[in-house]
Amino acid sequence: MDASRPFIFIVTVSFMFGMNVSADSKSCKGTWELVFHAPSGNGEDVLKAWTTKHSNCDIISVKFQLDTFGETVAFIEFDGRNTDDMNWFHNSRILNSSWTDMQKAGTFNVFSINKENQYGRNFFINRSYGGCGADTGWFVVNDVSGSKPCDWEKVINETYPQFLYGKNGKVTKWGAKDYGTAHVLNIYIQRGSSSATANADLQ
Ligand SMILES: *[C@@H]1O[C@H](CO)[C@@H](O)[C@H](O)[C@H]1NC(C)=O
Ligand SMILES: *[C@@H]1O[C@H](CO)[C@@H](O)[C@H](O)[C@H]1NC(C)=O
Ligand SMILES: *[C@@H]1O[C@H](CO)[C@@H](O)[C@H](O)[C@H]1NC(C)=O
Repeated sequence: MDASRPFIFIVTVSFMFGMNVSADSKSCKGTWELVFHAPSGNGEDVLKAWTTKHSNCDIISVKFQLDTFGETVAFIEFDGRNTDDMNWFHNSRILNSSWTDMQKAGTFNVFSINKENQYGRNFFINRSYGGCGADTGWFVVNDVSGSKPCDWEKVINETYPQFLYGKNGKVTKWGAKDYGTAHVLNIYIQRGSSSATANADLQ
């Protein structure tokens, strides 16, 4: 993807999150609608872009997906019922994930869109403390703003944002710099009746 290219927008579903969106949105119940698209390296702050006027009335599930060259390299599906624009992104809401060691009742010290924004770590899924060299986690938007105190998050010869993820479906030790870098972050929603079970709507 052209790094200088800004977000691509169409407006079909922008009323849902108050978000500008791109790609092939279909408003049929049960299909995944793209509501957010962020390319890496374009200099746009991801958290700032994710500003929403959330309407929770018919969101059933939210899919957080990382793609590189059109291939999905990681995803998480969340139970999106009765959520706002920030709190759907939490381990207690995990329905499925490509990270096989990521469990709903697993150990996380950060699982938050904006909690660690001061460090430039958004949509951050972190497992444990230990200092820059020892900390482990699954995903971070290494965002445009923020202090970035650790060596592993200081980007060399690249531009922010960067999307760092644990490869091979597993948690990664950030300091080992063995993480993958995804090209785009896409967020989809699935609508349905809020009284239906998530499982029924996922089929
Ligand atoms: C969970 O994701 C895997 C792919 O990683 C897929 O094969 C499986 O069918 C999904 N399960 C559900 C319940 O959606
Ligand atoms: C994980 O989260 C803790 C608590 O916010 C933080 O101190 C630590 O630096 C984080 N680890 C990484 C690798 O960012
Ligand atoms: C960054 O780019 C400079 C100039 O092109 C090059 O000399 C240097 O080796 C690069 N550093 C890394 C870590 O790729």
